[in-house]
Amino acid sequence: MNTVGVFDSGVGGLSVLRALLAELPGVRFVYVADSAYAPYGERTVAEVTERSERITTWLRHTHHIDALVVACNTATALAIDSLRATHPDLPIVGVEPALKPAAAMSHTRHIGVLATRGTLNSERFARLRAQLESVASSPLHFICQPCDGLADAIERDDLQTQQALCERYVTALRDKAPGDMDTVVLGCTHYPFAADAMAQLLGPGVTLIDTGEAVARRTRDVLNMYGTNDTAARAPVLVSSGDPTMLSLAARRWLGLPTRAEKLVT
Ligand code: DGL
Repeated sequence: MNTVGVFDSGVGGLSVLRALLAELPGVRFVYVADSAYAPYGERTVAEVTERSERITTWLRHTHHIDALVVACNTATALAIDSLRATHPDLPIVGVEPALKPAAAMSHTRHIGVLATRGTLNSERFARLRAQLESVASSPLHFICQPCDGLADAIERDDLQTQQALCERYVTALRDKAPGDMDTVVLGCTHYPFAADAMAQLLGPGVTLIDTGEAVARRTRDVLNMYGTNDTAARAPVLVSSGDPTMLSLAARRWLGLPTRAEKLVT
């Protein structure tokens, strides 16, 4: 049986784990929430790289993983090249904001992108955006909005702050693209857990996109697992560098998982 490590700065990557469990029920997943160091979005490249490296090494030594999913846009943007260089023998799947599917869907060509400051300021994001703009048949407008504090509010399950920040950032997006935005990319794996609030504020004419399912399909390809797989899903191992109870509660609330999280020390 394959074992796949999955990590995020905290509970956000559970939105990717949900898609992975649906796509690959026969796989054993070990999920690490680095909640003691969250949020990553306002940390330096060196800090995010160091945490990503420590967690990957721990997953390899302790759980002998066959592949790694970096279920965090910020860690992918800031650290995946370095992880691939230090672990050339480990298949690594990253997550990046779904600009390409958004460009394929948008009729108005005005696309909102909600992500962390770290992701939006990264070279990797600039390259992805420039590449899509250069091949687009008609001009594409990406309206980018850093959402400081939102991942942290989701991490703490603080619904009041989440609602206030969703209002602030949707208003900011609207001010930059009055009236004509029809697609919004959720470019942080925490944000699908605030998608209902976002959708309500954006209204029915705007489609929200995240990357969980695409990442799960890519992981299936990487593991070379084709055809149907009707094995009953195994409960994943859940580990947190912060408070394991918060991770257990989030996994129960959002994924219906009964698993109790353990404490990660690394
Ligand atoms: N969930 C993460 C992402 O996809 C990081 C959020 C954060 O820690 O700032 O970017």
